[in-house]
Amino acid sequence: MDYTPAPDRYERIPYNRCGRSGLLLPALSLGFWHNFGNITPFGTQQSIARKAFDLGITHFDFANNYGPPYGEAERNFGIHMDRDWHTHRDELIISTKAGYDMWPGPYGDHGSKKYLIASLDQSLKRMHLEYVDIFYHHRPDPDTPIEETMAALDQIVRSGKALYVGISNYGPEQAKLAIDTLRKMGTPLLIHQPSYSMLNRLPEEGLFDVLRKEQVGCIAFAPLRNGVLTDKYLNGIPADSRAARDPRYLKADFITPQLVEKLKKLNELALKRGQTLAQMALRWVLRDKVVTTALVGASRPEQLEENVRALDGADFSAEELRLIDEILAE
Ligand SMILES: NC(=O)c1ccc[n+]([C@@H]2O[C@H](COP(=O)([O-])OP(=O)(O)OC[C@H]3O[C@@H](n4cnc5c(N)ncnc54)[C@H](OP(=O)(O)O)[C@@H]3O)[C@@H](O)[C@H]2O)c1
Repeated sequence: MDYTPAPDRYERIPYNRCGRSGLLLPALSLGFWHNFGNITPFGTQQSIARKAFDLGITHFDFANNYGPPYGEAERNFGIHMDRDWHTHRDELIISTKAGYDMWPGPYGDHGSKKYLIASLDQSLKRMHLEYVDIFYHHRPDPDTPIEETMAALDQIVRSGKALYVGISNYGPEQAKLAIDTLRKMGTPLLIHQPSYSMLNRLPEEGLFDVLRKEQVGCIAFAPLRNGVLTDKYLNGIPADSRAARDPRYLKADFITPQLVEKLKKLNELALKRGQTLAQMALRWVLRDKVVTTALVGASRPEQLEENVRALDGADFSAEELRLIDEILAE
């Protein structure tokens, strides 16, 4: 069926400026890591992406190896692109990445210019796009000179195949080096993509300071810790959850009785705030303006409806933040 986006889509969520740039990103963005490969029905994928856009989520995030199998999320998006999105291309911010293993041999992994340039060409073909809005180096590569990796990003922007560039999973010192190197080349770093949630606060230990000082945007990935920071695991592992269906990256043994105790306490606090646990966890990730957008995944459209309402939640009081710290430290 033809898709007509919701006319009120730009009245649903805020758009935040990404660092010191002209680009505004929606406070929530949609990731295509899970639920867009060959194990998810095409109709489900389509309804998630359409729901996102109807809710004002204009940013879709990919990597070369999202699937399964590798490349499949981008390949499927190419079909979605032809059906739903080609008339809305200028309303979308589409990103992809390279940096993890993608194809066999020495040229399909890490951070060489050879890998990054070839990988983006492949991604564009799979997604039926002429350019992506943001291209990322997916993880730091200690064996490739940073100048080479950053020169590849600079070349990609100058060739018109990406409008902006980002880095992901870089530590504070590595990020500073990347920022300085790119700045000298005349291609400012737009954004950093770290993992950040109540259950992973590593970016608070130096990375956020760098991004704040250098005025670089931040997109926090896995803000629900792969779905753990929701109410779904409070009473066991439901059959339709990621831990049960696709445990490659979320193993059931991560959800220990001690963790469930913490989740129950957080859930109580969320209910007192008039939110679900997922909504409170997302609101918490966005409590500091250094985070431009929270990058969520969804296995069904209803999850996005719930998650977008996180943005209506009140600011945290000092007492609520103290209580959350206390629960997380237990
Ligand atoms: N740069 C990197 O290295 C890197 C690494 C990982 C991810 N990412 C990016 O971050 C994106 C998000 O990662 P993620 O999917 O792990 O993030 P997440 O938002 O922490 O978890 C998403 C999952 O949580 C569950 N969920 C979401 N909303 C829910 C709700 N309201 N109630 C109950 N369950 C809910 C769904 O799983 P189920 O319903 O299936 O349980 C959903 O697929 C990825 O798609 C990717 O774009 C980047």
